[in-house]
Amino acid sequence: MNRKPIGVFDSGLGGLTVLKELHKALPNEDLIYFGDNGRTPYGTKSKETVIKYTHQDINFLLKQDVKMIVIACNTVSACSYDIVTKEYDIPIIEVVGPGARAAVRNTREKHIGVIATPATIGSGVYEKAIKDILPDAVCSNKACPMFVPLVEEGWWDNEITEAVAEKYLGEMKQDGVDTLVLGCTHYPMLTKVLGRVMGDNVTLINSASVVAEEAAEKIKEMNLANDKEHLGKIKYFTSDSAEKFKTLAVNFMNEEIDNAEKIYIEKESVEAK
Ligand code: DGL
Repeated sequence: MNRKPIGVFDSGLGGLTVLKELHKALPNEDLIYFGDNGRTPYGTKSKETVIKYTHQDINFLLKQDVKMIVIACNTVSACSYDIVTKEYDIPIIEVVGPGARAAVRNTREKHIGVIATPATIGSGVYEKAIKDILPDAVCSNKACPMFVPLVEEGWWDNEITEAVAEKYLGEMKQDGVDTLVLGCTHYPMLTKVLGRVMGDNVTLINSASVVAEEAAEKIKEMNLANDKEHLGKIKYFTSDSAEKFKTLAVNFMNEEIDNAEKIYIEKESVEAK
């Protein structure tokens, strides 16, 4: 039995879509969430900067004595996972592999669309992960940098967000993708708009539940599970206003957020500890 919490982080609120599924899949586990709202978005920044932020985020979570880290961010998974998985001596779960596998399982015509931040699209990780499993898949990729600020602002379903989505996705829709990977953990909050724009024939892939299942398996496999009687709690940290975080996070979690603490992430070391 291992009573330590699991650490989960993202550039802001998007990772809460993964946290929610983790809480469901692992109800006995305590979870610690860090949202780097003060420095969001990550997806328009350089790889070098994202790696630096990743080190600080993980170093902060390690101070909370976590037993596992879940990178609830595609941008961090794309830019830093290969590096941090070698540097840190703790199990680390990422989100790109599960999303790619789910897309391959769901595609009917082998034409898969991927939408994500510029950093994730630029890294080419999704196309590589998809083609590693399904070499004759056709991938259409599109960076959608405006989506993250719209989600952070709580503009999940209005006419402005829909107009932005039409602009970003028009070409991909014409190309005839049958499956669309939401390659950013913020995007599941836009599911209604994205579903309307893409139409009923396109399957939307939100990897959050697959990530949670993989984390649950790993916990079991590594003998890291908490007491079965324990009721898992969630502790929230943010690098921006705790009040704003609580107000917006409620809608992601569909439950009351009774705590949130502001921390100064800049103080953490930019190197792996
Ligand atoms: N939610 C993140 C992702 O999955 C990052 C968004 C951002 O900060 O640009 O890519």
